[in-house]
Amino acid sequence: MSKLRLGVLASGRGSNLQAIIDNIAANKLDAEVAVVISDNPDAFALERARNHRIPAVHIKPGDYREKEEYEKAVIDCLRENRAELVVLAGYMRLVGKVLLDEYPNRIMNIHPALLPSFPGLHGQRDAVAYGVKYSGCTIHFVDEGMDTGPIILQEVVPVLQDDDEDSLAARILKEEHKLYSKAIQLFAEGKLRIEGRKIIII
Ligand code: GRF
Repeated sequence: MSKLRLGVLASGRGSNLQAIIDNIAANKLDAEVAVVISDNPDAFALERARNHRIPAVHIKPGDYREKEEYEKAVIDCLRENRAELVVLAGYMRLVGKVLLDEYPNRIMNIHPALLPSFPGLHGQRDAVAYGVKYSGCTIHFVDEGMDTGPIILQEVVPVLQDDDEDSLAARILKEEHKLYSKAIQLFAEGKLRIEGRKIIII
């Protein structure tokens, strides 16, 4: 059977991308990274892709007058590379309607907190500041909101008394690197059923 083709969108260092690549190599994930697309020309994620001979494409939002046009360019690239699932891995933009409509329930995101707590850009910092005893990471399908889509998997980590944003982020990141591949594997095996807001794992 042909492998699930992933289109990864990343804006930065790409450690989640790397974990996906490594888990595929270790036969823990039955998929293939078809293309890595970044809105940031300097994203280390692009270099990681090139290192593994994966097509690495920079698409510059500033080249397009409207977000819709930019997203159409992203879609063209995803289509050219026959991506079946879009994986957001540190992609720093809100996905718009054009991209959502093209890949309904086929865009996943990872967030470094236990949603619906602490959505947004500073999940780890907000968790430390709030004083919660546990945080973690969430894999969810993307909808039009910010970190609001149906939750696929979550992993919990403790928040220690002397944690700061960085130490908590490091603890969470370790779990992110395992959890994302698990969620993608479930998708690849056709084991995710969506019932309204709920994801049933079958
Ligand atoms: C991760 O913490 C992820 O949860 C968040 O952005 C960060 C991306 O890190 N969405 P990396 O680029 O995968 O290393």
